[in-house]
Amino acid sequence: MVLTKENNKLQHLAIIMDGNGRWATKRGLPRSMGHRKGAEVVKEITRAAGELGIKYLTLYAFSTENWNRSEDEVKTLMGLLRDYLHSDLKEIQENNVRIRFIGERDMLDADISKKMAEIEAETLRNEGMTLCIALSYGSRQEIVSAVKKTAALVKEGDISLNDVDVKLFSDMLYTKGMPDPDLVIRTSGEQRISNYLLWQVAYAEFFFTDVLWPDFNKKILEDIIKDFNARERRYGKA
Ligand code: FPP
Repeated sequence: MVLTKENNKLQHLAIIMDGNGRWATKRGLPRSMGHRKGAEVVKEITRAAGELGIKYLTLYAFSTENWNRSEDEVKTLMGLLRDYLHSDLKEIQENNVRIRFIGERDMLDADISKKMAEIEAETLRNEGMTLCIALSYGSRQEIVSAVKKTAALVKEGDISLNDVDVKLFSDMLYTKGMPDPDLVIRTSGEQRISNYLLWQVAYAEFFFTDVLWPDFNKKILEDIIKDFNARERRYGKA
């Protein structure tokens, strides 16, 4: 079956884009070249996701743990991000894409977090796909921050302890208002979740592919979605 917007069953796709470094090393190139190619693939896959009718695409661009990489590599990734934030808005607007960012913004350089806020504001009313970029993101940190927000509301008497339920807690997370991911793809053969959307993936399907992120493309995405479409999701029911 040819996948189209009309027959698409996948509402929210989350991706762990892994393998940029290995892709470059395999070719005798510096790791930065892998990230550069990876950033191009981000654009291709964002476009493809829109064409396939995916409503939410969440990409893991930089984790809280990635701050521990070499100064050089962090600089490269932040540089790519800056370029991305400054270059893509026109196409994003034309395609009616809403952009949001999840993660710890105060860790980022001021010019980057300022630009992020601007892009979020400028695309807020777009009703096509939501592109959610996880940046300086760690799921445990997100959960701790949600616990603190919830506790503060209880302490201030704005809500009672009995008001705290799954829905209320979900609304304390960075992903407030977004449906949970239906499918998580991780590239590069690693089979782990790496502090990504731990609360939100409670009933997600997973797909691990050996393809390195810089080699990922629309055709591979379509094949994975076909596999996903054939799965039976039971959400704990018999
Ligand atoms: C994992 O590869 C990838 C990352 C740590 C960052 C992902 C970033 C991009 C795809 C480019 C920039 C993104 C945007 C949105 C412009 P790795 O370095 O861990 O690869 P390795 O495991 O082979 O070393």
